[in-house]
Amino acid sequence: MSAAPIKRAYLVLENWFNLSFGSWNPLYHLGTLTFFFFWIVLVSGIYLFLFFHGSLDGAYASVERMTHEQWYAAGIMRSLHRYASDAAVGTILLHMFREFALDRHHGARWYSWFTGVPLLWMVVTLGITGYWLVWDQLAQYIAIGSAKLMDVLPIFFGSMARNFLEGALSDRFFILIEFLHLLGQPMLLVFALWFHVRRLSNVSINPPRGLAIGSFLALLTLSLIKPAVSHDPADLTTVPQVLNLDWFYLNIYPLLDYWSAGSIWILTIGITFLLMILPWVPPRPAGAAAVVDLDNCDGCKQCFDDCPFDAITVQARTDGARHEREVVVDPALCAACGICVGSCHASNPFRKAEKELKTGIDMPQLPINQVRTMTDTAVAALTGDVKILVFGCNHGFDVTRLNSDDTIGLSLFCTGMIPPTLIEYALRKGADGVMVAGCRHADCYFRFGNRWMEKRLEGEQAPVLRKRADRRRITIQGGAETDHNVVEGALAAFRQELSRLEQVEPEESPHG
Ligand code: HEM
Repeated sequence: MSAAPIKRAYLVLENWFNLSFGSWNPLYHLGTLTFFFFWIVLVSGIYLFLFFHGSLDGAYASVERMTHEQWYAAGIMRSLHRYASDAAVGTILLHMFREFALDRHHGARWYSWFTGVPLLWMVVTLGITGYWLVWDQLAQYIAIGSAKLMDVLPIFFGSMARNFLEGALSDRFFILIEFLHLLGQPMLLVFALWFHVRRLSNVSINPPRGLAIGSFLALLTLSLIKPAVSHDPADLTTVPQVLNLDWFYLNIYPLLDYWSAGSIWILTIGITFLLMILPWVPPRPAGAAAVVDLDNCDGCKQCFDDCPFDAITVQARTDGARHEREVVVDPALCAACGICVGSCHASNPFRKAEKELKTGIDMPQLPINQVRTMTDTAVAALTGDVKILVFGCNHGFDVTRLNSDDTIGLSLFCTGMIPPTLIEYALRKGADGVMVAGCRHADCYFRFGNRWMEKRLEGEQAPVLRKRADRRRITIQGGAETDHNVVEGALAAFRQELSRLEQVEPEESPHG
C-alpha cells in the first residue's frame, strides 16, 4: 500500500529534522512546544501587567514606556510575549497538519481532533484582544474590523462599529477587552486544553529540556534583534495609512477590504466545519475493540497502565473469581491498537494448557492465537544460514517488503501488541534472530507501542523479556513507510552480527 503523497512529503521533512535535531526533533514535540510557548506568554504577560495601564488614555503610553525606557526588562518581556504567541500559532498549525498528514485523527481518535479545532480559534482571538490592548493604530484597525464583524451578528445590530466611528469608545469597553485577554480567554483556553487531551493517557506537557532551552534562546535572540514595537497612537478621527500586520493572528482583517463581514463569517464557519468533520471523511469502518476474557484475566492492570487512549478501566471483580480486580474496555475509546495484548502476561505463547492460546485481553480481528500460528508458519518457512523473523506494524515501514528465503516480515496492528515471550518463542522455534521494526523511534502511530516494547525488552516494564532469552539475537529498528534504506541497512547489519554469532556459537540452537 503506497503512502498518500502528503504523508510521504511530511515523512521526508520529518526525516531531515531528525538528521538535524535527533531526539529533540521539534516535529515530535509540537503539542508540548505549544504548552512551553504558553508558559512564556503567561510569565511575560504577568510581568507586563505590572506596568500596564488599563485605560484608553494610559494604555499606549504605558506600553511605550515599557518598550523604550525599560527596554532591557519590560521591553524584552513584551517581545517575548509577542514572539512566543506567534510561535504558538506556528506549532499549533504544524501539530494539526501533522496529525492530519499522519492520519491520527480517525476512529476513536476523532475526539482529540474535534476538540483541537476550537483551540485554534481560541488562541487566535486571544492574540487579537492582545493587539487591541496596545491601543495604537493597529489596535484601532483591529477594533474597527472586529466591530464590523460583530455587527452582522444579531446581538449587536450595527452598534459596535458606529461607536468606534463616532469616537464613542469608552474605558468600560476597554476594560472588558482587558478582562477577556487577561482572564476570560486564558481560563477558557486552559479548560479547553484539558478537554483536548482528556482521552489520552500519560500526556506530557513539557518538551525535552534541550528543545525548550533552544526555543527560548531563539525567541530571546529575536526579541533582542527585532524588538516588538507599537504603531502611532490610536486616533479614531484618522484612518491609519501603513500597518505592519501580524499574519499569524490578524490575517482575516485585510479580507474586510474586499468581502463583506457576512461573507467572512461564512468562510470562517465553513473552514471550521470542514476541519471538524475531517475525522469522518472519508468514513471508515472502526477496528473492533479489544475484548476482555475474565477466565484469563487476573486483574494485574498492566493493560490499564499501558493503554494510550484511556480505554481501559479497572473495577472490582464481578465473576466471583479470587482476584480482586478486573479490567473493562470502553469500545468507544479503544483505538484497536492491540497494545493491551502485549501487556497481558497471559499472552505467553509457551502456555500449553490448551490447544488454542487464550489471553486476558485480545483483539477479535487478530487474536494472539492467530499471531502465534503466523509466527510458527513463518519460522517454519525460513531457510538459509541465518533465519530472521521481523515483526512490524501496519503504520510504519512495510516489513513484508523484506521477505526473502531467510527473512519473513509479519505486520501487526502495532509492535506494542507483541508480548516479549513471543519473541523468545520465535527464537526457540528456530529463528536465529528477531527484529522489531515498528514506527520511527519516539513516533509510534499509537503513541506508545514502540516505547513500551523497548521498555519490556530492556526489563523496565512488565511483561519483561525473560533473562534466558538471548538479547543479542533481538534488535529494534523503527522506520516509517519511506525509511526503506534505514530498515534494510539495520537488517543487513543484524544479519552480519547473527552470522558472527553462528560462527562462534554454532551448537547453541534453537536460541532463546
Ligand atoms: C492550543 C493548541 C494545542 C495544544 C497545546 C495541543 C496539545 C496536544 C498534546 C499535548 C497532545 C498529546 C500528544 C501526545 O502525548 O501524544 C495533543 C494531541 C492531539 N492533538 Fe493537539 N493541541 C493543540 C491544538 C490542536 C489542534 C488545533 C488540533 C487539530 C485540529 C489538534 C489535534 C490533536 C490530535 C488529533 C491529537 C491526538 C493525537 C493522537 O491520538 O495520537 N490539537 N495535542
